[in-house]
Amino acid sequence: MSSPEKSAFFIPDPAIIRKSRVPDYDRLYAASVADPSAFWENLSKELLFHTPPKKILDWSPRSFEGRWLVGAMGNICENALDRHVHDGFANKAALIWVGDRGEEDIYTYGRLLDQTSRFAHILKELGVGKGDRVTIYLPPTPFQVIAMLACARLGAVHSVVFSGFSAMALKSRLEDFEPKVLVTADCGFRRGKRIPLLETARAARRGIASLTCTVVVPREASPLLLEPGERSLPDLMSEVRFSGPLTPVPVSCDDPLFVLYTSGTTGKPKGVVHVQLGYMLGTYATARYIFDLQDSDVYFCVADPGWITGHSYIVYGPLLNRATVLLCEGTPDYPDAGRHWSLIERHRVSIYYSTPTTIRLQMRLGDSWPAGYDLSSLRILGSVGEPLNPEAWHWIHRVTGGKLPLMDTWWQTETGMIMITPLPSTPLKPGSAGRPFPGVEADVVDHSGHPVRPGETGMVVIRTPWPSMFRTVYGDPERYRKYWTEIPGLYFSGDSARKDDDGSFFLLGRVDDVIKVAGHRLGTAEIESALITHPKIAEAAAIGKPDELRGEIIKVFIVLRPHALSEPPHRDEIKQHVRLELGGIAEPHEIDIVLSLPKTRSGKIMRRVLKAREMGLPEGDLSTMED
Ligand code: WTA
Repeated sequence: MSSPEKSAFFIPDPAIIRKSRVPDYDRLYAASVADPSAFWENLSKELLFHTPPKKILDWSPRSFEGRWLVGAMGNICENALDRHVHDGFANKAALIWVGDRGEEDIYTYGRLLDQTSRFAHILKELGVGKGDRVTIYLPPTPFQVIAMLACARLGAVHSVVFSGFSAMALKSRLEDFEPKVLVTADCGFRRGKRIPLLETARAARRGIASLTCTVVVPREASPLLLEPGERSLPDLMSEVRFSGPLTPVPVSCDDPLFVLYTSGTTGKPKGVVHVQLGYMLGTYATARYIFDLQDSDVYFCVADPGWITGHSYIVYGPLLNRATVLLCEGTPDYPDAGRHWSLIERHRVSIYYSTPTTIRLQMRLGDSWPAGYDLSSLRILGSVGEPLNPEAWHWIHRVTGGKLPLMDTWWQTETGMIMITPLPSTPLKPGSAGRPFPGVEADVVDHSGHPVRPGETGMVVIRTPWPSMFRTVYGDPERYRKYWTEIPGLYFSGDSARKDDDGSFFLLGRVDDVIKVAGHRLGTAEIESALITHPKIAEAAAIGKPDELRGEIIKVFIVLRPHALSEPPHRDEIKQHVRLELGGIAEPHEIDIVLSLPKTRSGKIMRRVLKAREMGLPEGDLSTMED
């Protein structure tokens, strides 16, 4: 990485600054942290509440409980849909959907509200009410969005599971979440290949006693052969009597909106819990200021709604802002390398929120692809998920005209909203995620919580609560506390960074056992747990190995069981095993069979030693290593 001090500035066009919602970041930031309640209260007034908040924040520094918008009653679905329809925007496009096989569909705000309200009716008929849990295992299609919004409308809690996850991964999430209803589809498509979701869902839901119904959304025309406990969406739609729109259920500041499972340092993924009202304020405000959403915009975020980026910046944040959102199923290089560029041209996309891996892939595929399309509609770019290296930064900036604001946004499943980012009106530094969003007190500190000096590496923390903060880890409050106690009293993100003299953040990656493969978050322990369920594997260690395209790739070291030494498993067999246990995103790229793993005397695998060896770096302090 280039040193922060030497990185060049890009100063935005004065016309952009003049028109910006935040013409003077420094002033707004100073005011926002001097009186965060006033800052957030002002923004909350732009949203609709049945009962307005009595208090903006109730923060308990002992339990780390941050209750935002105390006393308020409201509903996020009503804010995302009904509010705009009432304001006369029923005919404005809310979702433009493009399928993997080239299908296209447009949902106006009116149609999205109608479908959401109908599906909420159906869920209600199936016994889902406020606080009840629903798992959504769907491909990136409008119905995925509708199912999420319908849950929110009822005050029910959704847990979306990315449709690339395997049956075992879905099963472990169902076991933990114990939903009443599972919503799935017969299939999804990726690179033209059919993904048999219903089969996977059937294998996963065996033994989940809480489930009373599986709703199947048909994607293909062929008739569905349903099993007991399954209902097809068209059948339910024709059976349920709709007596007008279903009234949104007002919820309080403590009522959860969703649980999203993400990887941590243990083998078991954790359910990050977000609540409706605080999350609504955080995603609304950040989407508004960072992407400067206007009625004329077409906004394209390349994530899948199954990840946090999709939750916050495909579904909730943009719809709360009455945006037109392009939702795309598939990959950036299928049917050809012009996929995204052609969508931008065809739909006159003005805001393109992408990922470093996508950008690096496009860069590798060559300049002629973007050059072949009319990209003049673009006005703001974004990136998320891993550090955006200066080379990729310069490339995307150049091929889109060399003038656009590029928002390298840093945040996490736990933060719910973007925390560190440039704004369209602030100077840009390639390789930097800019400075904290107004109202957010992010810093880089040492182990005892003292700020490190500019240019020094330290840990990224958040000092004070923020509206869309997660409220707990589902069923595991102790794990929630750990985020705040590792560096006492501060929220520790697990990332390291440097700040330069201007306070711009340069993110360096995770310092814990979490790796980021093409922006997907995986725990090394999770991969290791999956490996050792293979009958021939005794022990396993996984590391993230730097990779030019994907940021990191998964490299695993395995020790075989004695009986397997004469007939070791084939590498493809091991890959397939992990695929089945976790899903394609966790498949190891490199596998080494070794005789033993470096361990501490207490038996902990020293992954850092494996990583240092792999990269030809010094192995560091080995005093705790067993002989
Ligand atoms: C990483 C994704 C550098 C980081 C929204 C963080 C980033 C983890 C950036 C969270 C960025 C995200 N620059 N690193 N702009 N954005 N990260 O929960 O390591 O899937 O801790 O949320 O992604 O991943 P998660």
